[in-house]
Amino acid sequence: MSRTPLVLGNWKLNLTRAGARTWCASFRALAEAEPLPRGVAIGVAPTFTSLDAAREGCAGLPVLLGAQNLHWEPSGAFTGEISAEMLREAGVTHAIVGHSERRHVFGESDERIGRKVAAAREAGLVPILCVGETEDEREAGRTEEVIEAQLRRGLARTAPRSGAELVLAYEPVWAIGTGKVALPGQVEEAHGFLRSVLAAATAPGLASEVRILYGGSVNAGNAAGLIRLPEVDGFLVGGASLDPAGFRRILEAAAAG
Ligand code: 13P
Repeated sequence: MSRTPLVLGNWKLNLTRAGARTWCASFRALAEAEPLPRGVAIGVAPTFTSLDAAREGCAGLPVLLGAQNLHWEPSGAFTGEISAEMLREAGVTHAIVGHSERRHVFGESDERIGRKVAAAREAGLVPILCVGETEDEREAGRTEEVIEAQLRRGLARTAPRSGAELVLAYEPVWAIGTGKVALPGQVEEAHGFLRSVLAAATAPGLASEVRILYGGSVNAGNAAGLIRLPEVDGFLVGGASLDPAGFRRILEAAAAG
């Protein structure tokens, strides 16, 4: 099963509207100087207030628009939240759900994450469900138990029918923003395990179609080695996605892998 890699820049709490426009202008200039690599799907996930700036700034370029979070209800008294339909209206096609910063900084539970995955799908967005163990959990030999529970609970309220309706991201918490990228063997083992859980938990044939991205200190220097792993179908890139030239080099590595 060949899966087209997806590389999504998660801008986190970075880049104002002006910053998003500058990023897009630089990325466009690079694409005009040399065509973007083929065979890789490209996306960015700006802050909510920069979504339209990124959409307009990257208009005409093959750049998907992602959201970093969403609320599970379509409307109502939920101050500070944003719905899947509102995101869809803003041009968003993909939504990161259950990112480790949402889980650990904002205390999001698997139950809430499951609701968000379902809400994204109901609105026609592709959820990018993130799972990953902490350093303590890995050292205690609990990695598989933790990521299996996160995956099963994340999918508890939804039943994707095709591989195009779901993306998974394995992001070990200890590798995010630390410069400590997971070893190839650790990544391949975790991705293979997630695919086996997916095979048991979803419709027949679906597991081999779903893309499993790796995230955690991916950069232009390590992307080529990671994409060669058979179970790695692209990347969620934090810090290194903020520099258009560095992001572009990661895309090239992903396309060549
Ligand atoms: P870094 O690439 O900065 O480690 O962040 C990874 C991440 O959290 C992407 O979602």
